[in-house]
Amino acid sequence: MPAISIRPGIYWIGVNDRTTDLFEGMWPISQEGVSYNSYLILDEKKVLIDLAHSGSGSALLQQLYDLIDPTELDYVVLNHLEPDHTGAIRLLRNLAPNAEFLMSAKAVPMLEAFYGITERVRAVADGEELRLGAKTLQFLAAPFVHWPETMVTYEKESKVLFSCDAFGGYGALRGAVFDGDCADMPFYERESLRYYVNIVARFSGPVLKAIDKLSSIPINTIAPSHGLIWREDPDRILSLYEQWARLATEPAPAGVTLLYGSMYGNTEALMNAVAEGVSRTGMPLDIFDVARTHSGYILPSLWTKSGVLVGAPTYEVSLFPPMAQTLHMAEHKRIMRRKAGYFGSYGWSKGAFREAQAITAKLDWVWGDPLEVNGGPTRDALREAERFGEAFARSLMD
Ligand SMILES: Cc1cc2nc3c(=O)[nH]c(=O)nc-3n(C[C@H](O)[C@H](O)[C@H](O)COP(=O)(O)O)c2cc1C
Ligand SMILES: [Fe+2]
Ligand SMILES: [Fe+2]
Repeated sequence: MPAISIRPGIYWIGVNDRTTDLFEGMWPISQEGVSYNSYLILDEKKVLIDLAHSGSGSALLQQLYDLIDPTELDYVVLNHLEPDHTGAIRLLRNLAPNAEFLMSAKAVPMLEAFYGITERVRAVADGEELRLGAKTLQFLAAPFVHWPETMVTYEKESKVLFSCDAFGGYGALRGAVFDGDCADMPFYERESLRYYVNIVARFSGPVLKAIDKLSSIPINTIAPSHGLIWREDPDRILSLYEQWARLATEPAPAGVTLLYGSMYGNTEALMNAVAEGVSRTGMPLDIFDVARTHSGYILPSLWTKSGVLVGAPTYEVSLFPPMAQTLHMAEHKRIMRRKAGYFGSYGWSKGAFREAQAITAKLDWVWGDPLEVNGGPTRDALREAERFGEAFARSLMD
């Protein structure tokens, strides 16, 4: 996509990445893609804000060359050193040898460690301003949104916030760059939640601090490094992020994430009966086969729902391994204080429920009595499973 003017003198020069299968080497984005949004400000001084992944370096340069010769750049602002925003930096250093690289003090040693770059590098302080001519940039520390060195950059005249990872989302841009032009907002909101829970959720405390810090600043456009630019309704993404960040410590809305795995169909038969019971109550319900679904898609449901049902057989005196993996990821992302229920089939020794409890021990999940069935479920067992699902869902209404 060609460069797009956001406000007079401010341009989006981002690139779409539709070929990376796994973001950060682990989160699936093959279907959705991602954008690396860079921004160019043309005033008396010329500034490039954030770069792109190394694999997208030449596409970024093409965008840049359409507007200016990189040798004319006065500054390159690096809000965050993660390589999805800095991978193209060596190219830039060579093509813009006179540009000064601006970043937080914590980023300076990281730039040397990751790229060996130490010259024409300047640390900027929290709150520091930089006159560009008619425009003025202000740098605001936003530690741990997403790494310790992270900052955001605010352009005071046009009130544009270049927020880097904050307020970003997965999803390559589909022609429309602005929220107001987007024909499929549910897609971007869903992908923003998935990005939030996969990438940012662990840092929900710092996200809330950053939102609080930004609340005193008039913002009319949020220009993140991934996903849509929020120009018509920046409050929408701000309030979504705030809502999601609060879920790290506050109760999640009533709803059930039903996780299941099954080798030979016995637990699956129970699962269908459990789901019938849950559905009867009208409680929101998501169902995931954990052996077939990457946790990147499961975590958003766990993050936003108060109840978790775990249906899995015993496997070698322990929990069916794909379920163990999913629960480990829930533990890693600190999905705390959920109401939980276990059901599953076993052959001789049991062991799955004990392991599910052990994996989630640090999460303060409250487990009800398990429904453990030996072998294939009888008709009575299936009826019991229905009651089990219904009772679990009703317990979330208390
Ligand atoms: C590889 C494998 C390992 C198993 N290990 C155990 C075990 O250690 N203890 C046990 O009680 N059952 C064990 N079982 C039996 C299963 O738990 C039992 O067949 C159950 O009905 C499978 O449920 P599913 O049809 O939902 O996969 C094992 C089965 C398989 C295939
Ligand atoms: Fe990041
Ligand atoms: Fe990023």
